[in-house]
Amino acid sequence: MKQKAGWILPNLKEAQKRTKKETERINSYIIPENARFIGINHSYFISTYGCQANERDSETLAGIMDSLGFSKVEDVEKADVILINTCAIRENAMEKVLGEIGNFKRLYRQNPDLVIGVCGCMAQEEGFVDRLLEKYPQVRLLFGTHNLQELPSMLYSVMYEKQRVVRIYSREGEVYENLPVHRFGKHKAWVNIMYGCDKFCTYCIVPYTRGKQRSRYMDEILAEVRELKEQGYKEITLLGQNVNAYGKDIDDQYDFATLLEKVAQIGVPRIRFTTSHPWDFSDEMLDVIGKYENIMPFIHLPLQSGDSKILKLMGRRYSQEEYISLYNKIIERIPNVAVSTDIIVGFPNESDEQFQHTLDVVNYCKFDNAFTFIFSPRPGTPASRMEDSISLETKKARLALLNKTWNGYALEKNKAYIGKTVTVLVDGFSKKNQMVFSGYTETNKLVNFTGNHIQPGDFVEVYIDDAKTFSLDGHAIEK
Ligand code: 5AD
Ligand code: SF4
Repeated sequence: MKQKAGWILPNLKEAQKRTKKETERINSYIIPENARFIGINHSYFISTYGCQANERDSETLAGIMDSLGFSKVEDVEKADVILINTCAIRENAMEKVLGEIGNFKRLYRQNPDLVIGVCGCMAQEEGFVDRLLEKYPQVRLLFGTHNLQELPSMLYSVMYEKQRVVRIYSREGEVYENLPVHRFGKHKAWVNIMYGCDKFCTYCIVPYTRGKQRSRYMDEILAEVRELKEQGYKEITLLGQNVNAYGKDIDDQYDFATLLEKVAQIGVPRIRFTTSHPWDFSDEMLDVIGKYENIMPFIHLPLQSGDSKILKLMGRRYSQEEYISLYNKIIERIPNVAVSTDIIVGFPNESDEQFQHTLDVVNYCKFDNAFTFIFSPRPGTPASRMEDSISLETKKARLALLNKTWNGYALEKNKAYIGKTVTVLVDGFSKKNQMVFSGYTETNKLVNFTGNHIQPGDFVEVYIDDAKTFSLDGHAIEK
């Protein structure tokens, strides 16, 4: 790969560094004069991979595109600019993205003015960027997670100066407030409360791709929530890689329990948050969640492994016993709470006995839902350098057994809803049958149900008739 002047390429070693430098906050978003109207008569399409942080970033990208005059299209064939917002959490995500870019080659051949841009976490990875620059000439714009706000000037260079633009900062910069946002949901909204992560779990690429933890000021978050309430949003989800650590990078006055309470008092009907790390889950948080009816009784609490030695190697800072005692506290203090989790199998050298400890925790906690993964070595992370004696076959067998186990409990938990009435926030209706609607309960269970005169965004009382592993079936109670 030839490096060109003006290109800024990622560097994982740089990305790993942490400084004590205070985070700068920027409140203005200024479009450079020459980029003001570059979107007039042009359209864009966004493809998003990965977690909610990426979904929310795509809403910012869309907001910026709108501010330049572009219009959003749902059909990629009609787009003048395609933005692919990527995820780097596991290797198979990379293959999927490369497959999609490969498919866009045809569109580029038909229209050499087509701009294909790649951004997001994968763009922060050295190996991926090298491969992309060398083998995918159709990608003419590459930028990272720390420079979304520069999209107008980058697009100008690609569209009018016919340059291939590569601008990926390895270190996080400022926190930008007031970037434009085009929310994709009408009733549910994401609100970032912090960016980045300093936990450095040994398997995880996020602290490298998203930089050091930077919390937003509480006033800014509360103002955004108030605005969403005024706009009629019914549910907001507070987002952070580890929301419990909110504010620790600012000062002692800031903590998640205080923020959550202030958000609850604004009065949006449903408040959720994700993700919580078991390590700094405070008693104050439990008090607040228990106290406010509009904070949903649903906690996503990643376990990762049920074996204390593996947890230590993962750098998770809690033992099996500590996880279980936190779980017990949660179910005691929050009535009817549902708990979901993330689990990784096949961490380097995980023995059968150690895997059994994970199953033991699943058997104890009987999670409502779980996201389960085979360990995927991410370049640059400590775990990727560990020798591993466990075959892929064994890992696959463990994943299958783990899934069978948690699926059994999820079904059991769902069956307990049969004959009960739940409140559902309606997302929409089935395409095939306009009498079948779907939405989520307070405990985050997907419900498909029948009814009359129902609109997306309504709260509906639904009687549950049947239960499956991943959803409930019911009918609306006529008022
Ligand atoms: N391999 C497999 N799973 C991973 N996760 C994070 N990094 C890896 C990895 N290298 C999982 C964790 C995390 C979830 C978002 O993705 O379970 O909680
Ligand atoms: Fe990754 Fe751990 Fe940070 Fe979660 S807490 S984003 S798993 S490093």
